[in-house]
This record gives sequence, structure tokens and C-alpha cells, in this order.
Amino acid sequence: MKVCLVSDTHAFYSTATQFVLKWFWRCIAREDFDVLIHAGDWATRSFSSILPSLDQLRSAIDKPVLTVLGNHDLWLEPSDLASYEIIKHQLREWFEMYDILYLSEKSFVRDSLIITGFDGWYSNTNPPTKDCDRLPNDVTMSALSFNTQRSLERVFREIEGYEKRVCVTHFPPFDSYGRDSQSREYMGANPKYLEFLKANFQIVCVGHDHQAYDRHFDSCRVINPGGNYDDPSFVIFEV
Ligand SMILES: [Fe+2]
Repeated sequence: MKVCLVSDTHAFYSTATQFVLKWFWRCIAREDFDVLIHAGDWATRSFSSILPSLDQLRSAIDKPVLTVLGNHDLWLEPSDLASYEIIKHQLREWFEMYDILYLSEKSFVRDSLIITGFDGWYSNTNPPTKDCDRLPNDVTMSALSFNTQRSLERVFREIEGYEKRVCVTHFPPFDSYGRDSQSREYMGANPKYLEFLKANFQIVCVGHDHQAYDRHFDSCRVINPGGNYDDPSFVIFEV
């Protein structure tokens, strides 16, 4: 099965973004792949921009689309009035409307292959974010970290019995900016995440830092498609 991986499309980042993305989805539509994975950060400043983005993607691509949320996907404009629960409810509804599988709640299964995921949240992200200022008032970083823990427990239960395993999460399980320094290697993530992912998956798909890489940790590949604001990128791999 061929997987096309994208991440961090950041809708409405600038006045050009929607034109860039329209072109981007059309380019991808011409590629040879079976499943599209988006590793989060559909939005830039407000979760509400995800809706037109889904519409734009679906007008170009009719293959299975799987996703997790990035940190920007929970952000609010100062004028937005929404709670964490309202945002999550709304996003579930929109994903369902556009037939997009939210991997944080349901895995994708084909024969001996499982593609699962969790949104991913750490108390100390790298690159650092403005999440604390932009999140709804009723949610804290520690609550999101707790949710991650619960999601990981679900992932752990669901992968049982599958030979080929792919995991999707927004944050890289290591500090990708500190690769030259061993002491900084895990600054952005709890080292247990990387240990867990290495031990249980052949492929881990990530985004967030806008850097393209395909790193090997023992028998596990961690793939980031890279791409930057208004300069999205994709990668296709076999699983
Ligand atoms: Fe991000």
C-alpha cells in the first residue's frame, strides 16, 4: 500500500495560502498512492479554518484520508467563543462530514496493517509554541498531556495482533533541532514516547517542526514530510 504523508498545511496563514493549497491538493491528486495521511496543524490561528480546508482537499482527492490534530488545530482567535469540548465536537462532525478518519479515536485497518495515532501533546514542545495563550480557557497543557496518555493506552490495546503497524502523531518524539547534541535529543518529548514508538511501530509519521526527515531508530522509521507556511510538501512511501 502506498501512503502519501502531508502535515502542517496551516490554512489561512497568509492571503496566498488558500491558492497555494488548492494547487497543492491538485498536485497530490495526480500522484500514485492509496491513502493520504495528514499529521496535524490544518489550521493557523483558529480551528474554524479547518472546515474550508477539508472542503478544498475533498474537491481534489477522493481517496481515504486519515488525520490527527496538531496544536494549532485547537487554537482560538481572541474573538472566538468556544470551549475545548465544543471544538472537539465540531472537528469530529466536520471530519465525519468529509469522510476523514480521525485516528486519535479510530484506527485504519487493512488485512495485517493497522494505521493508528494520537494527537500528541507534551508539556515542553519544541519548537516552543504560543499554545497557552491561544487555547480555550477550559483546557490546560497538563490536561492535554493526560489525554495523550489515555490515547497511547488505546493505541497500545489496538495494535495487538497486527503485523504491520504505522503510528501518526503531530509532535516528533525527539527534539529534531538538537540532533547534534545527545543531551538535547529528547528535550521536546518524554523519552518514553520514543521508546514506546520504537518498540511497537515500523513507521511513525510526524509533523510540527516543518523539517523533512526520514530517521531510523533501530527498526522504526520516523518520517516527517517537512514543508513550511505557504510552501507545503508531501512524501510517498510504501507500507
Ligand atoms: Fe504544530
